[in-house]
Order: sequence, then C-alpha cells, then structure tokens
Amino acid sequence: TDKYCVIGNPIAHSKSPDIHAAFAAATGQDIAYERRLAPLDGFADTVRDLVAQGYRGANVTVPFKLEAAALATRLEERARLAGAVNTLRFDGSEIVGDNTDGPGLVADIVRNAGVPLAGKRILLLGAGGAARGVILPFLREKPEAIVIANRTRATADALVAHFADHVAYPGQIAACGFADIAGPFDVVVNATSASLSADLPPVPASAFRAGTLALDMMYGKEPTPFMVFAARHGATVRDGLGMLVEQAAEAFAVWRGVRPDTADVLAYMRAAS
Ligand code: ATR
Repeated sequence: TDKYCVIGNPIAHSKSPDIHAAFAAATGQDIAYERRLAPLDGFADTVRDLVAQGYRGANVTVPFKLEAAALATRLEERARLAGAVNTLRFDGSEIVGDNTDGPGLVADIVRNAGVPLAGKRILLLGAGGAARGVILPFLREKPEAIVIANRTRATADALVAHFADHVAYPGQIAACGFADIAGPFDVVVNATSASLSADLPPVPASAFRAGTLALDMMYGKEPTPFMVFAARHGATVRDGLGMLVEQAAEAFAVWRGVRPDTADVLAYMRAAS
C-alpha cells in the first residue's frame, strides 16, 4: 500500500481523503490517504517526517501552498508559474512540487460544465494565489482574452507582467479595476476570497449576459453571494466543488499515472454536501 496524505491547518474538514478513496476503489489502485495536521510553524518538519516514513506524496492546502513551493527541490512549470504547490511527489531524494488547482478548474469548466474556452473572453476576479494558479492553464486553452480585475489594481498589473512571456499576442491578458470592467464575458471566475466572509466582490451586472458561466472557486451548502448575483443577471452558476474533485483527479494522475473518472465522485460529493 502506497501512502499519501493532505497537509493543512486546519485539516479536519478536508474532503480529500473521501475523494481519493473513491478514486482508488474505482481504479483498483492500492493506496492509503489520510489527513495530516501540520503545526503552523512545522510544515517542513511534517514533510520530512512523511518522506522518512516512506510516503509517496502529499496534497497541500491552506496555509502551506507557498511554503510547499519553497520546500520543493524541483518544481513543475505550472507550479513555478503559479508560485504555489498543492501536490508533492516524493521521488527518491527529490521533493517534486506540482500544482493541479488550475488544471482542475479548467477540467471542471471544459468537461463538466461543457464550456470550451478556446476563443472565449474570460473575466478573472482577484489577483491573489488562487487567481495566479489558473492563468497558465487558462492560456493553454487559447482564450481570446483574460481580463484580471482586482481591488488593488497594482496586483493585477503585476500578474499581467508575470505571464507576459506566455501570451499568444499582446493584450491576451489585461488588468483592470472593478469599476472599469467592460463586459459581457463568456466566463466569469470568482478567485477572490470575498466569499469566505460572505461578501460580494464589486463586479458590475454588465459583466454577465444570458448564458455566461459564472464560477465561484468556493463551495458550501448555500450558493455564495457572487453566485446569487450572477444568476440574477442571467448567468449559469457553478461552485468550486467540481474544481475540488478535478484537482484531486489531476493529483491522482500525477502520482499513479491513471486519471480517474470524476462524474460519480462529483455526484456523490454533491449529494453528501
Ligand atoms: P487566495 O490565496 O485565496 O487567492 P490571497 O492571495 O490573499 O488569497 O488573495 C485574495 C484575493 O481576494 C485578492 O485578490 C484580494 O484583493 P486585494 O488584492 O485587493 O486584497 C481579493 N479580495 C479579498 N476580499 C475581497 C473583497 N471583499 N472584495 C473584493 N476582492 C477581495
């Protein structure tokens, strides 16, 4: 049995063990996957313990994703550009850092929601770690434009500069403040942390049209204020549960070389949440 875990603080409510257990059963892979609480000042020690105990990898969640990127001895390109790591693979003496959050979001949008991103106009709300992680995976889908709107405009400008070498043409990524958002967009993703405090980011109604896909990276029992607002203005809304399941499937593929089917697991998680 190969051992894996998810490291975070807090960690008790993580759904990752359930998701990975379902993937293992469905693919016939012999793995064990558990929750691991790391002290806030003890992430590196926790990882060293896992390596010493023969673990094969770990997922990393709040608040350790940046520390995981610093600790890795090698980073996959998508993790380097994201500046954050959610998946560690222990390979001999190497700690390989990867990031499957962005690919998970893209998979949820393209496969589960059935919205191809090629040629589309995407509005990304927020310019923190969550936003930064999805930009390279979005660019790989060849959208017409990605507009990053942030409360602090300078952070959005910095993200545009950070990805300048990866755009297909100048202007494929642009930054703006919330007040200058010029909609409508085909896809609007809320990557701000506003939903955590039940706040609505100040996105104008004109960002949406009938049929816009509005996705909040957060999930919970109730729709977020962003989802309620977007739905009222004609959007089709989606929470972050699909992204959660898809980032787990991508991590499972990184470790095991098999990408599990996600439809049944997502339906089960939806029913259970
Ligand atoms: P995460 O890792 O979740 O992205 P983060 O790096 O702290 O967390 O980034 C939080 C993002 O949410 C930022 O873009 C932040 O905007 P600022 O850069 O202006 O701080 C955004 N944010 C948080 N609360 C918000 C709110 N109430 N309205 C709009 N944006 C908000």
